[in-house]
Amino acid sequence: MAAGDQQRWNDKWSDHGVGTTHQSSLVGLVTDHIAGQRKLLDIAGGGSSDSIELARQWFDVTVVDVSDVGLSIARDNALMAGVEIKTIETDLDAEPLPVGPWDVITTANFLKRDLFPAMVDALVPGGLLIVVVATVVNLERHDKPGRPFLAEPAELLRLAEGLEIVHHSEGWRASERHEAHLVARKPG
Ligand SMILES: C[S@@+](CC[C@H](N)C(=O)[O-])C[C@H]1O[C@@H](n2cnc3c(N)ncnc32)[C@H](O)[C@@H]1O
Repeated sequence: MAAGDQQRWNDKWSDHGVGTTHQSSLVGLVTDHIAGQRKLLDIAGGGSSDSIELARQWFDVTVVDVSDVGLSIARDNALMAGVEIKTIETDLDAEPLPVGPWDVITTANFLKRDLFPAMVDALVPGGLLIVVVATVVNLERHDKPGRPFLAEPAELLRLAEGLEIVHHSEGWRASERHEAHLVARKPG
């Protein structure tokens, strides 16, 4: 992680309080495609409401993120919602993913390309990788996120090579963002 990244994200989570300003499409994607899987790792979930919604739906949710402030918001929100989540503070630029295996790995709005092989390794056979990320087309209407954080056309398909593609789509969403959505299964 570049020096100051944790502080930068802590500041963002402190400012926004309840999470990022945009709605995540993650929960709908997960609930549309899950068949009995329960042990779920949300990568870079921070203080987003996704983990709370997923825990409400009986997933055994662990959130990993570099921001202790974001994770603290997630724990507080879980407490208020009467659900349990686990949180792990980890700099994924420097440290490995939490030990799995996981039935489901989700990540929304965090495009770390070199993490894909580790995410696949950490899944159980038959496990699902679910990704939501804005694409470069999003720049037509929004300045942020900047290009390094945006998926190129069909990039998620390339990153998920070797997995069975259950769902892939790219388009403008109800949130007014242009997003790529991927649901891919590790061969069993
Ligand atoms: C744009 S936010 C997305 C949060 C949430 N998934 C959502 O969709 O609202 C990016 C998240 O990535 C986390 N992050 C940034 N760099 C990281 C790193 N090196 N390791 C782990 N988490 C990191 C930040 O703390 C932040 O919570």
